[in-house]
Amino acid sequence: MKFKHAMGAGVFVAAATMLTAVTAAILPRNPQLVSSAAPVPSGAKQVVVYTNPPARLIPEGQALFAEDCETCHGPQAQGSSRAPNLQGLGAATVDFWVSTGRMPLADPTQQAFEKPPVLNHTQQLAVSAYVASLAPGGPAIPSVNLGAANISRGESLFSEDCAACHTITGVGDALANNVYAPSLYPATPTQIAEAIRTGPGNMPRFGPGTLSNQEVGDIVRYVTYLQHPNDRGGLGLGHVGPVAEGFVAILIGLGSLVVVGYWIGGRAG
Ligand code: HEC
Ligand code: HEC
Repeated sequence: MKFKHAMGAGVFVAAATMLTAVTAAILPRNPQLVSSAAPVPSGAKQVVVYTNPPARLIPEGQALFAEDCETCHGPQAQGSSRAPNLQGLGAATVDFWVSTGRMPLADPTQQAFEKPPVLNHTQQLAVSAYVASLAPGGPAIPSVNLGAANISRGESLFSEDCAACHTITGVGDALANNVYAPSLYPATPTQIAEAIRTGPGNMPRFGPGTLSNQEVGDIVRYVTYLQHPNDRGGLGLGHVGPVAEGFVAILIGLGSLVVVGYWIGGRAG
């Protein structure tokens, strides 16, 4: 099953890279975002801060785990034939799966989808604290300081690293093998950073060697822009956003080429 996942992920990444190259080649930059590019002042607040949930929540987390998770993941979260080992994955992984409602799972043969969470916020932190206390490793829970992020850099990173699977507008798309890259619109900044750092399911994991914390913050900032685009300074075009504007620009560009072609052809003939 792990192998199948790995193969699937490989195919997605290959397709993703190709698509991204094409997208990057044809899509012009969104002028509004480019003009808002500003270097982050040195000495500014850290853009992403990782914190483990408070240890006092561990007993509550242990009780919740026994009730909601143990039947599949085993009493020490060591895994079973029904579900993977959770030890050493870190609080961010557990928080992502429970805060997006993916866990607890009803049917272990299905891809776990985002749904309203069963556990409330404190319970999410408690169960994350418990699992993180069982073994060291994995990231703690990220919080993102959006004010220190660079949206323009986030836009180019998003189109390079995320758009091929989630689409350039972040609306989500079906991938091969019945895998679905979900819409990014409901995700909170913490969940976006968690997904990037932990690579849920068939999504690749982007570790600190691939994306710095600053870059993670930049991407999160851009995704929050996609969630609430404000059209300011754009052409409007019926609120379809920068992508459609880009394609319209290409169409106009191609149109003019055709006209020029006819004109040159006409003169030659
Ligand atoms: C019905 C069985 C079942 C129950 C109950 C369940 N899980 Fe899971 N869990 C799974 C399966 C199966 C997967 C693998 C899903 C996948 O890879 O898409 C999984 C995956 C996970 C992962 C991701 C592991 C990884 O390798 O990235 C986490 C974290 C997790 N579960 C936490 C929990 C927590 C916490 C609970 C209780 C609140 C819980 N699960 C309840 C079956 C279950
Ligand atoms: C190779 C395809 C692929 C790439 C590239 C990719 N993702 Fe994902 N992403 C997925 C899949 C598949 C899931 C669903 C995982 C699951 O539920 O098992 C997902 C889930 C997510 C979620 C969770 C949304 C929810 O439903 O709660 C977020 C947020 C996310 N991705 C953000 C990103 C960002 C940001 C990037 C770029 C840094 C990125 N992804 C790159 C495939 C991809």
